[in-house]
Amino acid sequence: MTTTSTQVGLRALADERLHIGTAVTGGGQPGSAGLLADDERYRQVLAREFSSLTAENQMKWQWLRPSPEAFDFTAADAIVDAAQAHGQQVRGHTLLWHNQNPDWLAAGHYDAQELRTILRTHIHTVVGRYAGRIGHWDVINEVFDDNAQLRTEQNPWLAALGPQIIADVFTWAHEADPSALLFGNDYAVERIGAKSDAWYGLLQDLLARGVPVHGFGVQGHLDLAHGYPEDLEQNLRRFADLGLHTAITELDIRGLVDSPAGQAGLDEAQLATQAQWYARLVRTALAVPGCGSVTVWGVLDEQSWVPGWFPGTGGALLMHGDYEPKPAYHAVAEALRAGP
Ligand code: G3I
Repeated sequence: MTTTSTQVGLRALADERLHIGTAVTGGGQPGSAGLLADDERYRQVLAREFSSLTAENQMKWQWLRPSPEAFDFTAADAIVDAAQAHGQQVRGHTLLWHNQNPDWLAAGHYDAQELRTILRTHIHTVVGRYAGRIGHWDVINEVFDDNAQLRTEQNPWLAALGPQIIADVFTWAHEADPSALLFGNDYAVERIGAKSDAWYGLLQDLLARGVPVHGFGVQGHLDLAHGYPEDLEQNLRRFADLGLHTAITELDIRGLVDSPAGQAGLDEAQLATQAQWYARLVRTALAVPGCGSVTVWGVLDEQSWVPGWFPGTGGALLMHGDYEPKPAYHAVAEALRAGP
């Protein structure tokens, strides 16, 4: 009898060469551990397939900060505890972002000094709590807009405190856990282009100034309709040449679905192309020195953020239905077996 990939699990196939991760589904209410608490099957799949966990939502400000005074670590702790129990690494996501901030942040009309204190306290508290247990942090997330300009108005921290706050947040995170690897993270930076160039310049500048920054995360929210990012490897390599770690942090590959939102719904041709893309990405990650992980942004197509945000598209992940592996899953397994 041959051993199938799902009996072995992707993490075993990847071995020590690469961490294969997933986002832990963050539906439901802040404070609740969701599927991780309620669904034994989900827990089993997580433990078997993945060697790295990222909180899809549960470490964002909206979840961690019910009020200016309080922290709620219920859901975040559940992820870190599960990871420890199964020998998985954790990627912390995220400390400074323009989205999913709690309402009280804007409603409080804080002045710059107060905001600075709130931000520093948050970073020291959160990173400090998980020191030694969360090895990678997305410290700054999506600070550039689609025109490759810093989000100096949209991001409340950059708006109030100016771009110079970026160096401070890395420094504060490093103070709280000197062993954690600190990343910048963004979407639409797979290719060499204006936005990835902007990141290259920012990270190069931070490094030159001695700011503790260690990595660049390429999210990898791809769309079959937009073509494969042919120069991804070249792009990752130029960040590696700066001395940075890299990671694919939020991979999903969506297609056009002809069935209700959230179902796998891709036709055969799309499933085949999607499988090729997934395998290629994994081979690239294996080939680039310092590329430590490939994280898929969820487990089941039905749980993905994609159909809700891009109606008419979906089928973006490796499994669907009752944890049925898709062609993409098998292609990833094969790529891991074969190496770069
Ligand atoms: O928690 C509430 C729940 O109480 C309510 O009943 C429900 C009704 O819609 O909404 C729930 O909140 C949703 C939350 O996900 C948890 O499920 C929000 O509406 C929804 O907007 C939020 O979406 C998340 C999105 O970030 C927000 O920006 C997605 O799950 C999450 O996958 C997505 O992740 C981001 C990364 O953090 C950064 N990169 C892009 C990526 C995809 O957008």
